[in-house]
Parts: sequence; C-alpha cells; structure tokens
Amino acid sequence: MGQLIFHGQSCTEIVTGDDTRLLIDPFLTDNPIADVGREHFHDRLDYLLLTHGHYDHVADAWPLLSEVNPTLIASFEIVSYAQEVLGHEKAHPMHIGGGFDFPFGRVKMTPALHGGQVAGEGAEGYTTVPAGLLLDLDGCNIYHAGDTALIADMALLEGQVDVALLPIGDNFTMGPEDAARAVDMIKPRVVIPIHYDTWPLIGQDPEAFRARVEPRAEVVVLQPGDTYEF
Ligand code: NI
Repeated sequence: MGQLIFHGQSCTEIVTGDDTRLLIDPFLTDNPIADVGREHFHDRLDYLLLTHGHYDHVADAWPLLSEVNPTLIASFEIVSYAQEVLGHEKAHPMHIGGGFDFPFGRVKMTPALHGGQVAGEGAEGYTTVPAGLLLDLDGCNIYHAGDTALIADMALLEGQVDVALLPIGDNFTMGPEDAARAVDMIKPRVVIPIHYDTWPLIGQDPEAFRARVEPRAEVVVLQPGDTYEF
C-alpha cells in the first residue's frame, strides 16, 4: 500500500509501500495553493523527480537538494545543471523512452510536448526536453504527465497505467477537453487532475472534468494536502 499526496500545481509526494519518500516537481514557497512548505520534507526525502525545468516545477527543487540531499532523478540536461552549477552529485540522469529499476520501483520517462527552459540561478544555456514519468510502484503503475499537450504518443501508454495524473489547466497545457481525450487513449483506472486553479489563468472546474470523463475512468479530485492510497 502506498500513498500519493497532492500539494498543488503538479507537486506530488509519494510514499511507497516500503516507506521510500519521493517528491515530483516541488513548487511550494511561491505556490499560492500549496499546503506545505519545504520544511515538510526536511526530516527525510529519498528521491526528487522532475518532469521538466520550468519554475513552477523546480522552484523548491534546488534548495531541497542542498537541504535534504535526495537523489535527483531527471533528464540528462537537468542533472547536468544540478551537478555542474549547483554541485549536487547525488543524481541519476535519464531520458525520453528510457526506464530504470530503482530500489523503490521502476521509472520510465515518456514523451511530453512543452517548453524546455531550465529555470534557476546559472541555468542559462541549459535546456531540456520535457517528460512524463511512468512509475511502477508495488505493482501499481502511476503516470505523472508533467506539462504537455495532447499527443498521439499517449496511445502507447494504453494498458500500462492504473493511475494517471493529467494537467487540465489549459493555456500552458492540455485543457479539460484534450485531457479527456488523453483518458480515452491511455485508459487508466483512475485519473487525478493536476496543474489547474493555481492562478486564475488556469482556473478549471474539476467536477466538470469528472462529468466529461466518468464512467470511462474514475476521477479523483485531490485538494492540496489530500491523500490518495494505492
Ligand atoms: Ni511547464
């Protein structure tokens, strides 16, 4: 049994069945809807995973690397920035299409269509290809789509995803209509909407998204601080 705790925007904490603590896309300090700050992770953070380099996905990643020394799992370019500029050596670089068996489970990087800037002090010159993350944890397959448009490649994930975290905010990523089409392509059992309501620009009604998607998949709406058990 594992726990997935949503912290607003795309920030997702996962505690696996063997009590490994993962954090995806930490955006806490400047996130108007985050329920916790970085101190929440100061007692322990085992792995920090990043889908891409935009500010609203990495803003608290760089300080957390020095504060708690987790293993960074990210694209080769983001890991290069962390190692060369920030001096954080504990990292595992990956790239699109590649998977690796970590002690806590398997991580595969999947395609996403989005911007490639890496935000951070001294990050000029570092760009990356945004990714989604497909996690196999205790036999439960969790797909965190990161920031992305609807792409035909998502059809390749059919049969591989139990729980899909999909952006629905529109403007910078898929909106509800395209996210519902993504559900039809991926066919997960459960969908958790992310990347919405952080600012008015990406305001959405998750209940309208639920009405659009169910009963083809169960939509679980998590408020920041809510936990989904898998
Ligand atoms: Ni982004």
